[in-house]
Amino acid sequence: MNNKQVYLKPNVVLEPLVDNWYAWSHLISPATAAMNIVGRHHTIIESYLSAPSIHAEAVLNPKMRGGPFMDFGGGRIEEVKALEQKSHQQQEKIIQFAKAIKDLDKLLANEAKGFGLEDLYNKVPEILKGYVELYYDRHNNPGFRFFESLLYKSEFYNKSSQSIAMWITNNDERPFCLSTPRLEEAEVLNLEITFENPVIDELAKMKRTPQTLGYVKAMLGIPASKEALFESFFTETPPPPYQKYTGDKIRMRYFGHACILVETKDISILVDPLISYYGYHSSVEHFSDVDLPDTIDYVMITHNHQDHILFETLLPLRHKIKNLIVPRTSSGKLEDPNLKLMFENIGFENIIAMDEMETVRFSDAEITGLPFIGEHSDLNILTKMCYLVKIGEFKLLFLADSRIVESKLYDHIHREIGNVDVMFLGMECDGAPLTWLYGPLLTKKLARDMDSSRRLAGSDCDKGMALVDIFKPKESYVYAMGQEPWCEFISSIKYTDESNPIVQSDKLVKICRSRGMEAERLYGEKELLYDKQINAVET
Ligand SMILES: [Fe+2]
Repeated sequence: MNNKQVYLKPNVVLEPLVDNWYAWSHLISPATAAMNIVGRHHTIIESYLSAPSIHAEAVLNPKMRGGPFMDFGGGRIEEVKALEQKSHQQQEKIIQFAKAIKDLDKLLANEAKGFGLEDLYNKVPEILKGYVELYYDRHNNPGFRFFESLLYKSEFYNKSSQSIAMWITNNDERPFCLSTPRLEEAEVLNLEITFENPVIDELAKMKRTPQTLGYVKAMLGIPASKEALFESFFTETPPPPYQKYTGDKIRMRYFGHACILVETKDISILVDPLISYYGYHSSVEHFSDVDLPDTIDYVMITHNHQDHILFETLLPLRHKIKNLIVPRTSSGKLEDPNLKLMFENIGFENIIAMDEMETVRFSDAEITGLPFIGEHSDLNILTKMCYLVKIGEFKLLFLADSRIVESKLYDHIHREIGNVDVMFLGMECDGAPLTWLYGPLLTKKLARDMDSSRRLAGSDCDKGMALVDIFKPKESYVYAMGQEPWCEFISSIKYTDESNPIVQSDKLVKICRSRGMEAERLYGEKELLYDKQINAVET
């Protein structure tokens, strides 16, 4: 048995967890992790334990979708209590760290009144000393920045709380993953390994290259009691072979949400990876892991939101990624962690932190980082980037969720890059309020009306059309709508025909078509072929 050559099944999920919660980037960068563990996880746990039935009801209410409610039907109380206890023990330092951040905020609010800050360094909470620099902005508002690279080397980067839950999925139905921790399940194997551990690469390679069961069991130290479960994750059936693109054109494949693969016979570029599984019946046709090349030249990340950086997709792809492009920031701001550092600390290599209007050239392609405006609740967040991909003479523009609050910005960009051939624009124009994502990072309560005026909203029809008028694309595609069934567990989105993002994007598509342009809201999958020397050819 142990000598049999086996493949990892295509529907095995390697679900990364931090402290038993679904891992996302803010649970890796140490300061945001501390604030989220205390301000999100512990708060949800306490709330659940004090009123489990309220959570059970809220989860069933579509209006509360994506809210801070635990999906255990009001049960599993003892296990949730045990999780709370474990977290309080294992994250003791992190809890102190989060408290120190709040204390520092308070100190600055009360004592930094425009006079020199040097004397305040003595009063900085002990555990933060040496990890922060204090400053004023030009309006005398005090603030501080972290020396983030040093935080990763400190006791405040607790990578021992990382683990991988390994299980088989047989459909796309999954509860919203950011409000419910993962408890023990008979069919889920918990691997106590950190995200940087190369065994993840070895496991992921087994989707295409078989290994013996004995090899992989030894590598992971699987105990005898879990061997049967572990073996159920593997199969002797080889996956369908990957068909490399060998034509002369540019092939664009939409994988769902904001994930797009651009290939020629020589190069491959993948934007915002979110790859669905296969090996079970799905109501929506889609590309999946089997359609990805063996190596990917460049993976690009547009911004630091959970639905654009999925470790669940990225960690198993890590061994294929030659270069990873992320938007640059090293501001040290709590709300804007450094993505390059974050990825380095979970085992990625060759990361390019790109600046606005910076270009990377390779083969006959160019990738240029462009300013991304809006969709970040008016916080000073720099970790966001649109990308222009130029192959030969053909130009594809990826705008992700940017909300074009000032179209003149794009007039300036247009002066530099000219018209484009294809434009991809996210139109999730209603977006959640600031606190939904950034709430745990705030130490002062934000008034409700202020909160709801500062949303994580993408472009509406007017803003989208402003871009169409500027860049004059021959084809415009609305994407990143979080609509595919395999995205709901992270996007918490379920639209109806009356939902504003659907109404707005329908309108944009209609206007573009009335002008004789190609336009569509992408859903599920889409493949297009383009000539490198302009003029699109649809398959
Ligand atoms: Fe976003």
